[in-house]
Amino acid sequence: MSVGQNIPHDSSRGHVTGGSVFIDDRPLMTGEVQVLPIGVPAAAGTLKSIDFSEALKAPGVLAAFTAQDLYHNSWGTIVPEQPILVADKIGYYDEPAVLLVGTDMESLLRAKKFVRFEVEKGPAIFTIDEAIAKQSFIYKANAFKVGDADAALAKAPHRLKGAFECGGQEHFYLESNACIAYPLEDGQMEIHASSQHPTETQHVVAEALGLSLHEVVCVVKRMGGGFGGKESQAAPFAAMAALVAQKMKRPARLCLSKDDDMMMTGKRHPFKNYYEVGFDGDGKILALKAHLYADGGAYADLSSSILDRAMFHVDGAYYLSDAFIEGSVVRTNLYSNTAFRGFGGPQGTMTIESIIEDIALYLKKDSLHIRELNCYQKDVRNVTHYGQNLGHNPLPDLFTELKKSSDYVTRRQEIDAFNARSKTHVKGLSMTATKFGIAFTARFLNQGNASVNVHKDGTVQVSTGATEMGQGVNTKIQQVVAHAFGIPAQAVKVMATSTEKNHNTSPTAASSGSDINCAAAMKAALGIQKRLAWLFQNILAGTPMNDIAECPTLNEAQLRFDEFHFEDKMLTHLPSGKSLSWEDIVKQAYFNRMSLGEYAHFKTEGLGFDKKTSQGTPFKYFTNGVAVSEVQVDLLTGEYKILRSDILMDLGRRINPGIDRGQVTGAFVQGMGWVTSEKLFHNKDGKLLSHSPTTYKIPNVQDTPRVFNVDFIENHENRENVHRSKAVGEPPFLLGISVWTALKDAANAKSKGLISTLKSPATPEDMLLELARHE
Ligand code: MTE
Ligand code: HPA
Ligand code: MOS
Repeated sequence: MSVGQNIPHDSSRGHVTGGSVFIDDRPLMTGEVQVLPIGVPAAAGTLKSIDFSEALKAPGVLAAFTAQDLYHNSWGTIVPEQPILVADKIGYYDEPAVLLVGTDMESLLRAKKFVRFEVEKGPAIFTIDEAIAKQSFIYKANAFKVGDADAALAKAPHRLKGAFECGGQEHFYLESNACIAYPLEDGQMEIHASSQHPTETQHVVAEALGLSLHEVVCVVKRMGGGFGGKESQAAPFAAMAALVAQKMKRPARLCLSKDDDMMMTGKRHPFKNYYEVGFDGDGKILALKAHLYADGGAYADLSSSILDRAMFHVDGAYYLSDAFIEGSVVRTNLYSNTAFRGFGGPQGTMTIESIIEDIALYLKKDSLHIRELNCYQKDVRNVTHYGQNLGHNPLPDLFTELKKSSDYVTRRQEIDAFNARSKTHVKGLSMTATKFGIAFTARFLNQGNASVNVHKDGTVQVSTGATEMGQGVNTKIQQVVAHAFGIPAQAVKVMATSTEKNHNTSPTAASSGSDINCAAAMKAALGIQKRLAWLFQNILAGTPMNDIAECPTLNEAQLRFDEFHFEDKMLTHLPSGKSLSWEDIVKQAYFNRMSLGEYAHFKTEGLGFDKKTSQGTPFKYFTNGVAVSEVQVDLLTGEYKILRSDILMDLGRRINPGIDRGQVTGAFVQGMGWVTSEKLFHNKDGKLLSHSPTTYKIPNVQDTPRVFNVDFIENHENRENVHRSKAVGEPPFLLGISVWTALKDAANAKSKGLISTLKSPATPEDMLLELARHE
């Protein structure tokens, strides 16, 4: 019984012993060259020329390549508009423009300073408001409408109007973008990349080089973290390495430094969301009108999908009877913002969580009361603003249970007393929720394929399109396949992802990597299970070996599959109680010339969303959770501590409870970093200044909650997904928002009625400024 067990992550030993192989750990090949992309020193305007003649004279430098060397110089997941290397128009500061190639990285770094750019600078846009003023847009979404927001707003006893602002976020994966391109015979190319999307990497490389898709293979063993940052943006770097490999007929390695990775690649989208909310005297929300503005940066990338997901999540956990939600992506002269854990969901949900804190202050009520009042219910008030029924909805129970287990009511009283007493500190407490829609909102991406190969000794290799980035997808696939065959997890290995084995795959993203690829692997395993059962059924019936017919896959009545059971390394015929060992049945299948391999394709059923009417069922189901955080702020310095956070999540029946606990804890801390300390700074020219750990502050262990309780409810109702589990990767990221609302609650405790203007992230400086407004 492998499913439900805490099998160790398949890389856990390797990661702590150094045995895990990342891209730059791959041994150097004879003749292999290093590639250093160099960015333009301007955010907007025209690149007139690049002079690398001096750099070419430096020792160790072999060649330089530019846009002119590419067969095709544009890429883009949704809109193919982004150059791989700047040709003329500049999109953002440090945008890659020239590839310096050499024998070793030290030589390239020394030679870099000899490269000269001639640039004609143009006017640049760096903020959302500037972009709105100049009508610089990438995408405008169709509005989401439910009820009559204008009428409901006009009738509402109370109204608040404002703008919620949140900043971007650097992915800060430990392995920067990295790739090695190996030129093969006949111009074919083999790419090893740190990519969440091997298929897109294959496609971008092929197009850039003028090859057909069948001439390029992309292999991904693992990533040292992706977090969305390698969903689309791994591809152009692979194309750069492949260009060098093609031109020089030598293997080419491109491994970005942390600083270059931070400066050249996109981040989480900053949002500025204008809204007007109407509510009654008890705090019940009667109407919401909002316009979400996302900063897409210089190019479209995944921005339109990210904005869509933000609009889908602007309700948070709260029912909206009358709403009108608009959205736009603006174009600025910053790196092209991209997928990051939550994919717009956090930016949408945080808006309503922030609004609720404002309503609480305005009505002088506890924010949890407002949340409970507005929370989606089970049988009524359970349809979203885009028309999806929530189905089994655990949100009310989650709020009730966490309120009890975290001792919310008593602690609220204690905090109020503390705040009345203390002259030096103020405390805040707040509970927020996540209701994260599971599925790619682009319907066609909800498909995957897998192949399962049983070897003669009974061990199994599985290949799917899923990529392992630390989230444990390999371990979950290993478990469901081992479970299907009734063999120990150690007897199953999940192999490196390759476009040669699994083609036309979707990115490992949208938290559905495990869902889709486990489902495909189970479907493939089932094909083999059926053949083995058929063989055993014939053996039991005394059919002579050579006369066993093909397994009647279409005639379920002939194969009495449900009479057979795979467990404890045995295949058992339940009615007779007779069994054969796993190894035996596998051997017999081989000698009887039966296939022990199977390929299966899986697609998620039941999805349908009409973009024109903005109504339908974009999601298969929702993953829900709640968190309550308590903070203490120093009134003199603005510095704060997170005293305690409690999390309660519904992950259905977990396939691997330990891995899921890791995902919840890690996502919460990453979310908390986004809303507290992770702030991006640029100079007046648009150059990113916070491009290393010395200037960009992710949480460390001392920053995490002093008391940190992570718990789960048992929910056996999720019939929508494999073994009734629920996707976990992104949903708990949104719970980090509770730290920010707790900080806002602390500031509100000092407010004399003035509505907060706190933005995210709320650094200690920001807290001090906010507190000063209330003096
Ligand atoms: N966990 C680790 N350790 N490293 C990562 O890069 N990425 C997150 C999440 N958890 C990530 C992670 C993101 S953005 C997604 S979409 C999911 O994992 C992807 O994996 P899954 O779909 O298999 O859950
Ligand atoms: N989530 C994450 N990645 C995606 C999505 C999504 O909904 N759509 C396309 N890429
Ligand atoms: Mo995750 S942002 O969907 O890669």
